[in-house]
Amino acid sequence: MKKSKIFIACDTAKKSKIKRIIRDTQNNKLKIGYKFGLEFLNSKSGRIFLSKLKNKITFADLKLHDIPNTCKSTIEAVKDLKVNYLTIHISSGLEALKAAKKVSGKVKLIGVTVLTSLDNKALKEIGFNKSVKKLVLHQARLANKAKLDAIVCSAQEVKIVKKQFKKEIITPGIRFTKKTNDQKRILTPNEAYANGADWLVIGRDLTKGNIKKNTQTLINHLSQ
Ligand code: C5P
Repeated sequence: MKKSKIFIACDTAKKSKIKRIIRDTQNNKLKIGYKFGLEFLNSKSGRIFLSKLKNKITFADLKLHDIPNTCKSTIEAVKDLKVNYLTIHISSGLEALKAAKKVSGKVKLIGVTVLTSLDNKALKEIGFNKSVKKLVLHQARLANKAKLDAIVCSAQEVKIVKKQFKKEIITPGIRFTKKTNDQKRILTPNEAYANGADWLVIGRDLTKGNIKKNTQTLINHLSQ
């Protein structure tokens, strides 16, 4: 059977915590990648740690949201990290996506659609007229146009995104415990895979408390 693919969101600025996450999530049932967020990438030792991390699938969650020139030069500036995946907000615009894609080389460029912490009400608040579903679909078309390598959306939108975007679909907002925290558009791991997600992003459900136990709980859930 194919292993379930999970990106673990290593959302901490502490190197010691990252080391613990990597150690305590080792198992032969899952295919694991490690996602590093802004807090770690901007921490004093985070960048160096990541540049030295070998034989792991790595994901720099930079969530670029800037003008084409800045997106392009930022990607060039992090080339030495040799990460496998890197994120850019699709709302940076088609020109920025194309400029980023032009320089990303071997790094898979992931387009982030609407954050999973936002719902229809929050979108309205920001000033968007479209519903989450319609906006995600619209952005999936843009990701396709810019020839991005992967897309991030919530597991609730995977089925509609698949109609427009044929490459990897990565879904955060995954919960196998009762805690939703700040996430609004959530589904369980099994629901996300059933909808067709390729990779799940899981943070707090794995990394808070007993990491080994949480990893086993996830494996049990996936075998149901
Ligand atoms: O702890 P939790 O499982 O909610 O973590 C989700 C991770 O996915 C966080 O690192 C967050 O930055 C990231 N993410 C997200 N929604 C997106 C894109 C990324 O939650 N649309």
